[in-house]
Amino acid sequence: MSRAARLIGRESVLAAASSVLDDARHGAGQFLMISGEAGIGKTAMLAALVSQAGSAPLVLRGLCWEGDGAPPYWPWSQVLQASGLPAADLGEAGWLLQRASGPAEPMSAAAAGDAQFRLFEAVARCLGRLAAGRPVLVVLDDLQWADEPSLRLLGFLGRALAAEPVALLGAYRDTEASPELRKIAGQAQQLALAGLTQDGVGELARELAGMPLPPQVTAQLWERSGGNPFFVRELIRLLLAQGSWHQPAQIPASVTETLRRRLARLSTECVRLLEWAAIAGRDIDVGLLADGAAAGHEPAALNLLEEARQAGVVAGTSLPRFTHDLYREAIIEGLSTTARTAVNLSAGAAGAIGSGRSGRRASSGRGPAGTAGRAGLLAPRGQGSHRASRTRGRLRVLSSGAGHHLRPRHVRGRGTHRDPARARRVTRAHRAL
Ligand SMILES: Nc1ncnc2c1ncn2[C@@H]1O[C@H](COP(=O)(O)OP(=O)(O)OP(=O)(O)O)[C@@H](O)[C@H]1O
Ligand SMILES: [Mg+2]
Repeated sequence: MSRAARLIGRESVLAAASSVLDDARHGAGQFLMISGEAGIGKTAMLAALVSQAGSAPLVLRGLCWEGDGAPPYWPWSQVLQASGLPAADLGEAGWLLQRASGPAEPMSAAAAGDAQFRLFEAVARCLGRLAAGRPVLVVLDDLQWADEPSLRLLGFLGRALAAEPVALLGAYRDTEASPELRKIAGQAQQLALAGLTQDGVGELARELAGMPLPPQVTAQLWERSGGNPFFVRELIRLLLAQGSWHQPAQIPASVTETLRRRLARLSTECVRLLEWAAIAGRDIDVGLLADGAAAGHEPAALNLLEEARQAGVVAGTSLPRFTHDLYREAIIEGLSTTARTAVNLSAGAAGAIGSGRSGRRASSGRGPAGTAGRAGLLAPRGQGSHRASRTRGRLRVLSSGAGHHLRPRHVRGRGTHRDPARARRVTRAHRAL
C-alpha cells in the first residue's frame, strides 16, 4: 500500500469504487470489499483509491499478518494507533493498544461476549468521533489472514457506522477466504477483480518493457498469465533478462511460489484430476475427465472441479478452463517423470491429448498450451523426443488386443460406438501417436 502506480485497464472499476467512497464522504457510511487472486491488483487498487481520495479524508491503515504470532485484533490496533487519539479518549478501545503482559484472566463465555461487545462499541465511538472532524477512510489489506475477532469487528462497524462519514475499505484473496470472511464480505459492497484483457496485458507489457511487444508475444503473455498483472510483470522480467521475445519454457520462481501455494491447498484427489486435465490443455473436457481421471465417476469429477474452482485454479462452469496457462505448466512441471508418463498414458488412451477444444489449440502448436498438449513435449527438456517415442510405443500396446482390458471403457467399444464425436477424438489421438 505504498505509492499508487498507474493502473492499467481498471478505469471503470476505479470509477465505481471512487463513487462509493464519495458517498461516504458525504455522510453515508460505506463498506467496500475488493477481492481477487494473488497478484491481481488488490493492493494496487487500494493505493489508487487512497490517492484519488486526496487529502480530504483521514486515512487509517491496518495490515493483516500471515501465520502465527500476531495478537488478536492486530489490524485494528494499527488503525487505532494511526488515529492519533490520546489514550484517555479511547475508552475500552484502549485495550487494543496495550500488549498483554501476561495470560488473559479466565472469563465465562457470557462475560467474554459482553466484553467483546463493549470493545466493538468503543471502537465505533472512536471512529465516529474522528469522523465528526473529517471523513475517515479505514483501509484493511490482506484480510484473508485476519483473525476472526478482527473480522467480526469489521462486520460490526459496517453496520454501526452506516450513518457516519466513514468508509471501510478491505481487500482479500477470495481464493483463500475463510467462511467467516465470506460471511462478513457478504455484508459489504463487493468489487471482484478479474484478469486484464489482452489489450490491457499489451499496454502493461509495453509499459514494463519500455517498447511495444509483437502481437503474438502479447497473445502468449495473456494466455499464460490469464491477465494477472503480477504474472505479466514477472514474465516480462524473464523475457527482458533473456534478451529475446521467445517465451521461455520455465516459470519465474516468484510465480511458481504463488502457484504452488494455491495448489497446496487442494485435496490430493483434486490435484490428481488437475494433473490429468493439465495434460489435455487449458480447456477442460468434463466428460473425458469423468471417463479417465475419475474412473467413470462424473459427479466425483464435478465435485473436484468445483474444489479447484473455489480455489481459483479453474474458472467457468459450463466450459471450465484453467484460469491461466501457468497453472497447467506448474502442475505439469510438478509431476515426477514417472507420474508424468503415467498421466500421459492414461490421458492419451482416453483421447484427451489432441482432442476437443484443447486439442485444437494443442495441434496448432501456438505457445505453451499448444506445445505442452503433446505428450513428448511434456517431458523435461532434452528428453522430449525419447520420451515421446517411448510413450507412443506404450500407447500402441494399450491399443492392441493385449492391452485391451487396460483401456478406459469408451475406448473398449461402448463409448466409441455410442458417441461418434468421442470416437473421432480417440481415433485422432491414436493417429497422432
Ligand atoms: N491494473 C494494473 N496496472 C498496472 N500494474 C498493476 C495493475 N494491477 C496490479 N499491478 C501491479 O501488479 C503487481 C501485483 O499487484 P498487487 O500487489 O496489487 O496484487 P494483490 O492482488 O494485492 O496480490 P496479493 O494478494 O499477493 O497481495 C504490483 O506490482 C502492482 O503494481
Ligand atoms: Mg496485496
